[in-house]
Amino acid sequence: MTNQAFVANLYHAPIKGTFDYIEQACIEIDGLGMITQVLSPNHSDYTQLVEQHENNSSLTRLADHQYLLPGLVDLHTHAPQWPQAGKGLDLPLHDWLNQYTFPLESSYSDLTFAARIYPELVDTLLAHGTTTAMYFATIDSAPSEYLARVCKEKGQRALVGKISMDEKSMCPDYYVESSTQQALSDAEAFIQNVNEIDAQQGLVYPVVTPRFVPTSTKALLEGLGKLVSHYQCHVQTHASESDWARDFTEQAYQKTDVELYNETGLLTRKTVLAHSIFLSESDKETIKSVGAGIAHCPLSNMYFADAAFPLREALDKDLHVGLGSDLSGGPLPSIFHAALDAVSHSRVREAGTNTHIMEQRGEANTRVSFVEAFWLATHGGGLTLDLPVGVFKPGYCFDALVVDSNTQGSQVRVYDDLDSEQDILEKIIVHTTEPAISSVWVNGRKVK
Ligand code: GUN
Ligand code: FE
Repeated sequence: MTNQAFVANLYHAPIKGTFDYIEQACIEIDGLGMITQVLSPNHSDYTQLVEQHENNSSLTRLADHQYLLPGLVDLHTHAPQWPQAGKGLDLPLHDWLNQYTFPLESSYSDLTFAARIYPELVDTLLAHGTTTAMYFATIDSAPSEYLARVCKEKGQRALVGKISMDEKSMCPDYYVESSTQQALSDAEAFIQNVNEIDAQQGLVYPVVTPRFVPTSTKALLEGLGKLVSHYQCHVQTHASESDWARDFTEQAYQKTDVELYNETGLLTRKTVLAHSIFLSESDKETIKSVGAGIAHCPLSNMYFADAAFPLREALDKDLHVGLGSDLSGGPLPSIFHAALDAVSHSRVREAGTNTHIMEQRGEANTRVSFVEAFWLATHGGGLTLDLPVGVFKPGYCFDALVVDSNTQGSQVRVYDDLDSEQDILEKIIVHTTEPAISSVWVNGRKVK
């Protein structure tokens, strides 16, 4: 690939809580898919840059009804659970795992089953504008490595974890590691193999993935912590997701999940904690001082969490936080939808719901704005993963999508005489469905 450039009306959120809209911006990217320049029309070099790319036939001009946005980041999704998205949501977490999730995940030991599901799932996420996804795969190494190869081939930036779960009393006998030692050597081989799938290190990354505290022995957590410090790779797990999960750790260890993960070496700058609903003040301090991050999964939380994540507080405390679909605890693959859910969930939290209470039904001043949700879906996600994605800046990867208000099936309606720049952004978040996303790029490669 050689240098290319785009002229487009773009939205992005370089600063949390605000957005930039640049009409007819010119973005130049190099042969590796990195952004080299972002110029607005009033910049003195703008005309020259546009002409240079026009003369080289390396310029793409988007239409006025098309909006260029940073690609979306899904910080928490379970690839193997795609076939059950929408099923079993009436069950509590523990029953849902045992009745639906563990039986389905164990099916992937058959690679032909994995080949039926994973390519379709990755295509689906790309089509919804998810340019970076952090995936839980399954306990089996071969299908988990296969998922990493599918992402690499289809061009999705992906952080993929083979799940580690060895606590025999909490796992079904058909879906558990044969021993802690085996679990650790498989986790290590997985890291090495995924590093080889993507030897240039830019698209696909291995992730150390203890499922959650109940399915892990302490020896497993400690062993995985050593792997993390040796390979300096990402970590993902579930933290304090429901009353049951929180109480389990409290009773077994007299600690919080965050304390246990920290003490076992699993909490680093590259750790993503899914959910983290019940955090103590000292947990928040620990997360902040380490620079670990949180995947907020609002739709999943409405079904499984028993409570609302304190997103307002996490944003105000400057914790690293972004959004996750949590497929299939959350049944929808769209991070635009997750952004809408984050706003709606915060509004329900703020207002409260109990009509028997006459005043102060909810928690005052806890709402989150659409503009903040846009930051979470893009820049916040990139920051949480410590990857240069989610904003259009020199040195960042060109991961982008186009929302087209005119294309067939688009529900994004823009009325130039009625809609401000912010109105349009809010409508994009609320109304963008898959057909409205006309193009997607990852690292400068067109993938939709
Ligand atoms: N906790 C442990 N495993 C899971 C899972 O697969 N999904 C969700 N939402 N929570 C979990
Ligand atoms: Fe999850």
